[in-house]
Amino acid sequence: MSLLIDHIGELAVCDDDFTVLHNAAVVIDGDRIAWVGGADNAPATDERVDATGRAVIPGFVDSHSHLVFTGDRSAEFAARMAGRPYSAGGIATTVDRVRRASDVQLADNVARLVRQMHAQGTTTVEIKSGYGLTIDDEVRALRIASGFTPETTYLGGHIVPPEADPDEYTALVAGPMLAACAPHAKWADVFCERGAFDVDQSRAILSAAARAGLGLRVHGNQLGHGPGVQLAVELGAASVDHCTYLSDADVDALANSHTVATLLPGVEFSTRSPYPDAARLLAAGVTVALASDCNPGSCFSSSVPLMIALAVREMGMTVEQALWSATAGGARALRRNDIGSITVGSRADLVILDAPSYVHLAYRPGVPLIHQVFFGGAWEWAGLSR
Ligand code: NIG
Ligand code: FE
Repeated sequence: MSLLIDHIGELAVCDDDFTVLHNAAVVIDGDRIAWVGGADNAPATDERVDATGRAVIPGFVDSHSHLVFTGDRSAEFAARMAGRPYSAGGIATTVDRVRRASDVQLADNVARLVRQMHAQGTTTVEIKSGYGLTIDDEVRALRIASGFTPETTYLGGHIVPPEADPDEYTALVAGPMLAACAPHAKWADVFCERGAFDVDQSRAILSAAARAGLGLRVHGNQLGHGPGVQLAVELGAASVDHCTYLSDADVDALANSHTVATLLPGVEFSTRSPYPDAARLLAAGVTVALASDCNPGSCFSSSVPLMIALAVREMGMTVEQALWSATAGGARALRRNDIGSITVGSRADLVILDAPSYVHLAYRPGVPLIHQVFFGGAWEWAGLSR
């Protein structure tokens, strides 16, 4: 079955050069993009969708989320807004809830959040474990996440649970827990930060995960300067995420690596912290991704459009850089070359906006601008505008 989307007012291709086409058309054949060009030259297809001048963008690739939990931490957020600082300690609250939750409760929570993400234009999401922190609870989280995405991440190394000894727990995460979780995970991640895992513990966990065949990701340099970025580069991680506090040496290391810097501005918004300096990373030639980090503690938002608006307003990114980072950048952070851009051969994951230009994503923050979302060619209405 082939489908033509024509009368596209503005098409953001999100290829390496950030090409924008006007009065464009896209042909989808099965689950792939088969043709991209000017609306006047479009080939005949079985079906047609008239975009009536709206803008079309790739579906967002949200390369960082923690969705396998239950409950919320709104009291912690309110206390923070009253002046209490964010700390990794709140994670233990969610761990306690998750261990007592049923499989159905956890799966329902993931389903609800993934639905919210789809309705906001996200077509690929990475989901981490990390709120179980026992072998059975981590395996369970990854089994549930696998029902929603192939991009699953083992985060047994999130924090040392309150009942455990740090060295024994690190050995568990790098040993038997990894062995049990690896069949259900594509990636492994560690929270390398004061209050979580130090650089030696993080290296032990990530090296073992690499030997088990998992790709690597790191939570690093979120709460202060630290070794996370350098460790991610040393181990060839696909991405190091947060990157809020960076030295010149960290920026240099990233610029000379294949490690993507994934920025999560919803965290700085929700923890009232200073934003990372995206312009500095981009000027150095670092590949930057933008993601939500949706989780009940540091950022309970599933909205990539909000992240784009924050990146533009607060982090010195142009709208084009922010949109690229939330699509093609997210794809690179997941080492995927079949998603994140509207190019021939890519998966037909794209979004028709209820706006004539992608600029509206940052220009109209908080407004539901997602009109129609295509997932591998199959589409859903999302917006209020149909
Ligand atoms: O990415 N930084 C560590 N983990 C999460 C927060 C998780 C939580 O607070 O529950 C993050 O910000
Ligand atoms: Fe995170």
